[in-house]
Amino acid sequence: MNESPPPLPKALSEETAERALQLRSLLQQADYAYYVLDSPLMEDPVYDQLYRELQALESEYPQLIVPDSPTQRVGGKPAAQFNSVRHNIPLYSLENAFSLEEFAKWQERWQRQVGGGAMSSCPPLERVEYTCELKIDGAALALTYENGLFVRGATRGDGITGEDITQNLRTIRSLPLRLNLESPPPLVEVRGEAFLPFDEFERLNRERQQVGADPFANPRNAAAGTLRQLDSQIVSQRRLQFFAYTLHLPQQPKSQWESLEWLHRAGFLVNPHRQLCQSAEEVAAYFQYWETGRRTLPYLTDGVVVKLNDCQLQERLGSTQKFPRWAIALKYPAEEAPTIVREITVNVGRTGAVTPMAIMEPVHLAGTIVQRATLHNRDRIAELDIRVGDTVIIRKAGEIIPEVRRVLPELRPAEAKPFQMPSHCPECGSRLVLPTGEAVTRCVNSSCPAILRGSLVHWASRDALDIRGLGEKIAVLLLENGLVHSLADLYDLSVEQIAALDGLGRKSGENLLKALEETKKQPWARVLYGLGIRHVGSATAQLLADNFPTVEQLSGASAASLASVYGVGPEIAESVVNWFSLSANQKLIERLQAAGLQLSSVDKSPEVSSNLAGKTFVLTGTLPTLKRSEAKELIEKAGGKVSTSISAKTDYLVVGEEAGSKLAKARNLGIAELSEQELLKMLQEFSFR
Ligand code: IVH
Repeated sequence: MNESPPPLPKALSEETAERALQLRSLLQQADYAYYVLDSPLMEDPVYDQLYRELQALESEYPQLIVPDSPTQRVGGKPAAQFNSVRHNIPLYSLENAFSLEEFAKWQERWQRQVGGGAMSSCPPLERVEYTCELKIDGAALALTYENGLFVRGATRGDGITGEDITQNLRTIRSLPLRLNLESPPPLVEVRGEAFLPFDEFERLNRERQQVGADPFANPRNAAAGTLRQLDSQIVSQRRLQFFAYTLHLPQQPKSQWESLEWLHRAGFLVNPHRQLCQSAEEVAAYFQYWETGRRTLPYLTDGVVVKLNDCQLQERLGSTQKFPRWAIALKYPAEEAPTIVREITVNVGRTGAVTPMAIMEPVHLAGTIVQRATLHNRDRIAELDIRVGDTVIIRKAGEIIPEVRRVLPELRPAEAKPFQMPSHCPECGSRLVLPTGEAVTRCVNSSCPAILRGSLVHWASRDALDIRGLGEKIAVLLLENGLVHSLADLYDLSVEQIAALDGLGRKSGENLLKALEETKKQPWARVLYGLGIRHVGSATAQLLADNFPTVEQLSGASAASLASVYGVGPEIAESVVNWFSLSANQKLIERLQAAGLQLSSVDKSPEVSSNLAGKTFVLTGTLPTLKRSEAKELIEKAGGKVSTSISAKTDYLVVGEEAGSKLAKARNLGIAELSEQELLKMLQEFSFR
């Protein structure tokens, strides 16, 4: 056995330990103030700096890391799979009532039950209290706290057994990692709902569409899908939130209302729209108020939950196999409507993804007229067995794109035939493929007009090269007239060619060329995003551009080195490698480079400006690898001047070892200093321009 012992942790001074403790506590308070109270304690940059300080301390002294440190929310290594956990107390579901009449029946039922036995007495009706809460449409979670510390979080699963997703839940900022209590009970179980607010749901779907992934059908699916991500770093990038609504303690509070207050005090986000109602009339008013009021909420709700407030009464009523008898969900009428499918078409996106769409008899739904609904992919079509002529139920939840919920086969015309996905692309006629393991059918002909049209529009889009004046209409004209067969062809267009197009003129031509010229100033990250590589959305493009400052570095990178970048997963890495492996794409890069687009980052820091032309350099000391004559030659080749003495006109002093009096003089004059490495970086960037 000659294994070396693990390195001893570096000795820690008392001040450092104290500082870490203070930082942790302040950042915890700041998280709570920001995510739960919605009233920030400090400015974002201040938070960031303190956070980085704590991070640095913890990386130098790993013994400082504790599970409830704010730094532990960022997610760790991807899990291979989730372990299943048996819930100590089952997670019940709720019985539904679809109207106030059904609610009244439920009330009669529970009263009969408690009033049933000879000895038991039903509380007089006028004294019954109900806690009313909004019914959040997300995913139910069970959280366990031991001695105040968050130790385990699980999905609902089937109510008896769920999946251990502790790692993912740590990334939810509004979920306390430690209870905010002086002396927390040894064991606390908290239940509640994780959800994605609308804006985050929409952002996520935009991002998915940008990379050619299927959008989530609704915020609930998006939340559930996010919670089951094996890579908690991805979870940490999506702003999941959590409302707590159930509490289990060794010494249970007396009422649901007190439980909610306890949860709030312990540091949880508890929905602020809860209400303690003293009568069925107040419950009805609450329900009616939120029926329209919910449209102003930033998250999806599908009803209200009414719970008997008194815990003793709850206990007396108990539960059935599935539901507690002391609570009911009063659901809003779903925003669903029947209509008839007139046609099923397919749409080819810029990634070649073929999406089937149902074109229907126009119908009013949740305040808009709906005529089209996505059918997602062939699996979904098979699942629905949707046919032209079918009567279908479409649904629009909140502000979201409508979907077909189900087909009413009873109303199907006799002659309706099952829908077949086309075998050939409706736009270019080439054979469609269904990659193994994917549900999405694709056109893989890179010169398919639909793909080209989509790529042009994407290239011109705001987050990419932002070419005003190049939208769908002009893209179609350019393609139909054979002027453009590749993105690079845009840069060979002439004013005359554009002016000759239907409905355009000289002015449009000039404007478009000017806008195209402007794109040459756009940074590398945007160009990269504009290329439309699958799974590379704008944030990923920025990440890649930061880590691979030149296209040569990026195209030469292995999947492993790409995936080693924080935030880049194996799927993205593989997609980038595949993209650059195609010779047509290599050719595109060469042509874009020749056209003058930025395929490398220009360092923004003034010391390392890549524009050497007209700059004066002075060299001092011995450089680590370059001889003075070599350095001089390189600078001059790049358009700079080399002088032997420092003056006010000197732009940079290149400093080697044993630098002499020139250094002191340069510092007096406030002249920028460069190491050999920085000089080389500057020269390297120059050579890519
Ligand atoms: S109470 C025994 N309260 O609705 C108590 N549930 O349809 C059961 N839900 O599985 C849960 N908001 O995921 C409760 N304020 C709320 C809720 C809520 C949303 C969900 C929960 C439950 C589902 C039942």
